[in-house]
Amino acid sequence: MAYSRCIVLLLICAVAPMVYSNFYQDIDVFWGEDHVYILNNGQDLQLTLDESSGSGIQSKQEFLFGKFDMRMKLAGGDSAGTVTTFYFHSGGDVHDEIDFEFLGNSSGQPYILHTNIFVGGVGGREQRFYLWFDPTADYNTYTVIWNPSQILLLVDGIPIRVFGNFEGAGVPYPNEKPMRMFSSLYNGDQWATQGGRVKIDFSHAPFVASFSNITLEGCVWNVGDFNGSLALCTSPTQGNHWWDGPEFSSLNYAQQGQLKWVRDNYLLYDYCDDLPRFNYTQLPAECSFQVQY
Ligand SMILES: *[C@@H]1O[C@H](CO)[C@@H](O)[C@H](O)[C@H]1NC(C)=O
Ligand SMILES: *[C@@H]1O[C@H](CO)[C@@H](O)[C@H](O)[C@H]1NC(C)=O
Ligand SMILES: *[C@@H]1O[C@H](CO)[C@@H](O)[C@H](O)[C@H]1NC(C)=O
Ligand SMILES: *[C@@H]1O[C@H](CO)[C@@H](O)[C@H](O)[C@H]1NC(C)=O
Repeated sequence: MAYSRCIVLLLICAVAPMVYSNFYQDIDVFWGEDHVYILNNGQDLQLTLDESSGSGIQSKQEFLFGKFDMRMKLAGGDSAGTVTTFYFHSGGDVHDEIDFEFLGNSSGQPYILHTNIFVGGVGGREQRFYLWFDPTADYNTYTVIWNPSQILLLVDGIPIRVFGNFEGAGVPYPNEKPMRMFSSLYNGDQWATQGGRVKIDFSHAPFVASFSNITLEGCVWNVGDFNGSLALCTSPTQGNHWWDGPEFSSLNYAQQGQLKWVRDNYLLYDYCDDLPRFNYTQLPAECSFQVQY
């Protein structure tokens, strides 16, 4: 659909390559129908949470690889106990998953950005960050680039996390199951804020998270044709898989510097640094391969 719009509006497409997806056309509500508001002809979305329910959406389509952006403005004020998500999930028993989860906090206290990656049903790959801005003050762009070479998480275009493909060395990598995009706002006060010590205060409800200008540009999985879809999405030559290009397959020098800046200044937790958790000797295999600039 993005493609056909480019043909029809060739001129606009050439000037503005960014093609927004639409919250009416491209997503379904999976939770809390009456707590979801789609605004501005599908350009904007609000998810809300109160005592009766939270809410969540999912993309209609599944993708195997692509570049996906969401503009998000998180619930302000006392958001302790709330969790706002933007993630990708394959479904199934041994699922793959890529997570952005924003853990709310008491008024004036910082949100935490919690990230994780699951491959074949196994997660435990948490990295947590503080942000260098107030994510409740305005919209910021959160991006997942997922291709055969790497998973890259970016905030306003700045790489915060890279998970390279080291399958050749026996490290699992998610590259054969399509994933759907999800966003939700839920009560996570069992764990989210200061380790679960600070509970949600529903006298401040409804909590509202705002989303805008979603772009889902990836290889669309044809549900009825597993082998055909797999061949199409993983082929380096079929289709216009621009997200597989060299500029998305490794970090350039400037991005390496940005990632280092983020890790030096805003990284709170990295499972690969958590030696006690892994008995000092049993770090997950990927930890010896992931590039740490
Ligand atoms: C909330 O604020 C406290 C105090 O500043 C901080 O320690 C914590 O990391 C913040 N974030 C969460 C999600 O608890
Ligand atoms: C979404 O995109 C439109 C058109 O480019 C722009 O006018 C608007 O400010 C954007 N909204 C956000 C929240 O970024
Ligand atoms: C899909 O590929 C697998 C492995 O090559 C093969 O065993 C299976 O028969 C194929 N399925 C279809 C429907 O072609
Ligand atoms: C660490 O050692 C304990 C006690 O021997 C064991 O129960 C646990 O599974 C080990 N953890 C890992 C990650 O190997």
